[in-house]
Amino acid sequence: MRKLTYFIACSIDGFIGDESGDATFMMPFVDEEFLAFLTAEYPETLATAGRRALGLDGLANKRWDTVVQGRGSYNEGLKQGITSPYAHLREYVASRTLTESPDPHVEIIADDLVGKVRELKAEEGELGIYLCGGSRIAGELFDLIDELVIKTYPVTIGSGMPMFGSGFSITEFGLDDVRTFKNGVFVRTYSRKR
Ligand SMILES: NC(=O)c1ccc[n+]([C@@H]2O[C@H](COP(=O)([O-])OP(=O)(O)OC[C@H]3O[C@@H](n4cnc5c(N)ncnc54)[C@H](OP(=O)(O)O)[C@@H]3O)[C@@H](O)[C@H]2O)c1
Repeated sequence: MRKLTYFIACSIDGFIGDESGDATFMMPFVDEEFLAFLTAEYPETLATAGRRALGLDGLANKRWDTVVQGRGSYNEGLKQGITSPYAHLREYVASRTLTESPDPHVEIIADDLVGKVRELKAEEGELGIYLCGGSRIAGELFDLIDELVIKTYPVTIGSGMPMFGSGFSITEFGLDDVRTFKNGVFVRTYSRKR
């Protein structure tokens, strides 16, 4: 069974963006040291436009070959005219309103999101699935998430978009790894205890 990993950035107080989901306040923490870490360890998470700008078009995938995101998250790129934000991965976007995909490389999941992600997890393959967010889709897919990779930026914001758009429920995860960076960012990896 291929792993579904929710890889997400948040504030110290656990928000993935402001109330509207805007996470641009996190960008200044992606400095040289942290970008080098992301490039080496999580190359899949560098979006197509960023790779091009950095001259990293040919970067190989290391952990994931597929990305799943909600239309809210996908919309962030669409606003800038980006229709295939992760062209180096198979791209799936959950949406009931996007009746036609804006890009031939992007497949829309309109019905049975959980069933479709179960199917993707059941496929043969070495590499797993990157759950990009945002909050609502992570809440809906919560039971299928095997691993969390949480980048915590050294700011509090008081209120905002939660990591999971779901109700109160306690689920235990085991801590596998912690990496710290000079600028105060830390990255924790957790596995779900089944
Ligand atoms: N901090 C980070 O690392 C990070 C990462 C990713 C995203 N974000 C932020 O998260 C925000 C978006 O989060 P969000 O919670 O608003 O939206 P989201 O989870 O990205 O997407 C929600 C949308 O997904 C579709 N959807 C949800 N469940 C579905 C289902 N069962 N079947 C089919 N479609 C389904 C719906 O689209 P339709 O309305 O089209 O039907 C829904 O409006 C963005 O502002 C982004 O900046 C932050």
